[in-house]
Amino acid sequence: MQQDTSRAVLITGSTSGIGLAVAHGFGRAGYHVMLHGLADQETVQALQDEFSAYAGKVGFSNADISSEEGCAQLVSDTREAIGNPSVLVNNAGIQFTAPTHEFPADKWQQILAVNLSASFYLMRDLLPAMRSANWGRIINIASVHGLVASEQKSAYCAAKHGLVGLTKVAALENADCNITANAICPGWVETPLIQPQIEAISREQGIDLDSARAQLVGAKQPMAKASPPNAIAELAMYLCGDFAGTITGASLPVDGGWTAQ
Ligand SMILES: NC(=O)c1ccc[n+]([C@@H]2O[C@H](COP(=O)([O-])OP(=O)(O)OC[C@H]3O[C@@H](n4cnc5c(N)ncnc54)[C@H](O)[C@@H]3O)[C@@H](O)[C@H]2O)c1
Repeated sequence: MQQDTSRAVLITGSTSGIGLAVAHGFGRAGYHVMLHGLADQETVQALQDEFSAYAGKVGFSNADISSEEGCAQLVSDTREAIGNPSVLVNNAGIQFTAPTHEFPADKWQQILAVNLSASFYLMRDLLPAMRSANWGRIINIASVHGLVASEQKSAYCAAKHGLVGLTKVAALENADCNITANAICPGWVETPLIQPQIEAISREQGIDLDSARAQLVGAKQPMAKASPPNAIAELAMYLCGDFAGTITGASLPVDGGWTAQ
């Protein structure tokens, strides 16, 4: 699919995992790419070197988006580095597991802030320029947990269900301006985010990490293999192509059959 290479994209949480794969996808396609995330200086330098091989501009912000001020900082850093993005990928996310009756309030607040409220603030601040340009793409990396629940994930499920709802509202409100808003809902993806859950199973059951990974993934997915981060990147790219111009308000699972059950 031919992509418009004059466009700029902001991908939150793109120092690692899915966001990094998405950023590479857009970088390869010639977009101006705004990288973002919490990372040490060495990682940032390595990323900037890698992305300098691509044709478009590259910028980086380490704004902590768990607050409205942090989101405003990211918007301003982005405009300074690559101009107004016509594609926003809300990807940054965190996880914490505990039963609802023991869930720490600070973890609840933090997950809601990063996984849901940041997407709202960034959409609110970046949509006006997309509306003026009469073109835009909002891609929210939700989760199967935006569609179904799992035990121990009250905050994560609440945030991701909220993100799916927010995506639908944005789709309706911006349909008049060639702006689509979609949620991608991955099942298990091979990234650092799922590592603590794999390690916990390994520890609790005295099994090796590969067996723990197979058990974690197979417990939910009929296809007992985690998706590669590039699978999510390719779908994000597709949503920015010409043929996806009428896909909006959708929640697209990439989940090995998890939500088909
Ligand atoms: N890995 C999976 O199996 C999976 C499955 C479904 C959905 N997801 C979702 O995909 C998204 C990416 O997940 P991942 O697995 O690539 O995670 P990851 O842990 O590899 O990366 C998370 C990114 O978010 C950034 N981040 C976290 N908190 C931040 C904050 N307060 N301010 C700024 N940046 C912050 C990190 O720096 C990092 O760049 C998340 O929204 C996650 O919920 C992941």
